Amino acid sequence: MNELWPFEDKVRHPTNTPERRWQVCGRPPRTDDYSFDEVEATSETAWLQRWSSLIWSRMEVGVPSSVILCGPSGAGKTGLAISAMRVRVQGCAGSLAGWNMMTDVIPHPPVTRGPLPAPVWFETWLDLQARLRLARRLSRYHDDMPSPDEMMEELVNCLDLLVLDDIDIGGYSPAKEIDLLTLQRRIDLRKRTIYTTNALPETWKTQFGERLADRWSDPRFVQIIALERPSLRR
Ligand SMILES: Nc1ncnc2c1ncn2[C@@H]1O[C@H](COP(=O)(O)OP(=O)(O)O)[C@@H](O)[C@H]1O
Ligand SMILES: [Mg+2]
Repeated sequence: MNELWPFEDKVRHPTNTPERRWQVCGRPPRTDDYSFDEVEATSETAWLQRWSSLIWSRMEVGVPSSVILCGPSGAGKTGLAISAMRVRVQGCAGSLAGWNMMTDVIPHPPVTRGPLPAPVWFETWLDLQARLRLARRLSRYHDDMPSPDEMMEELVNCLDLLVLDDIDIGGYSPAKEIDLLTLQRRIDLRKRTIYTTNALPETWKTQFGERLADRWSDPRFVQIIALERPSLRR
């Protein structure tokens, strides 16, 4: 139950199919066929696959709810994150009302509202910044446009899985540190988050700030998966 979907649906709408859900979760184009079947099976990919399919209430204590995939370009970070999304999307994880609404045949007006996040949601750091900037401008004139703070609230509270891709882009800024710290609240809510970054853990203190670097180094909350080039490139 949350503000974005203030009621919960009891039945799945006919439009709410796995295929349709897969189309509305914000993935980049040409990733339709991404899955764990397409990546080399290593202990890391096996761990991530299992993590994606775990049922939280039965989950063993101590399994972290956030994952940071790091490594050079082409290592397969984005692909792995999307593979994890597929598992959650197949299972219709998260708010049924959210999925019913997002898979409805009538598209939501993108101009005033921006894309609503689906319960499993992919966004690059850059796209999120652009969406927040647009919201800052439009929410002054449109009552139904959420403010940037409300949008961040949605990302914190409403999503079963949030994938935030390429968070190192743009380097450090205090505003970025605040956004990322805000999203850390998802950890307390036991909601899954996957971050991807080219930046290696040694540089996180300067890239993201001391507080985040410290929290991200706690394996009770965050699983770090370091990938090497180019094991996953087809
Ligand atoms: N799960 C996947 N399924 C299919 N192809 C993948 C998958 N992961 C990676 N690839 C392939 O490997 C390439 C590089 O992976 P990508 O995830 O984009 O790397 P990174 O995000 O680390 O730069 C992709 O362009 C894609 O062709
Ligand atoms: Mg990538």
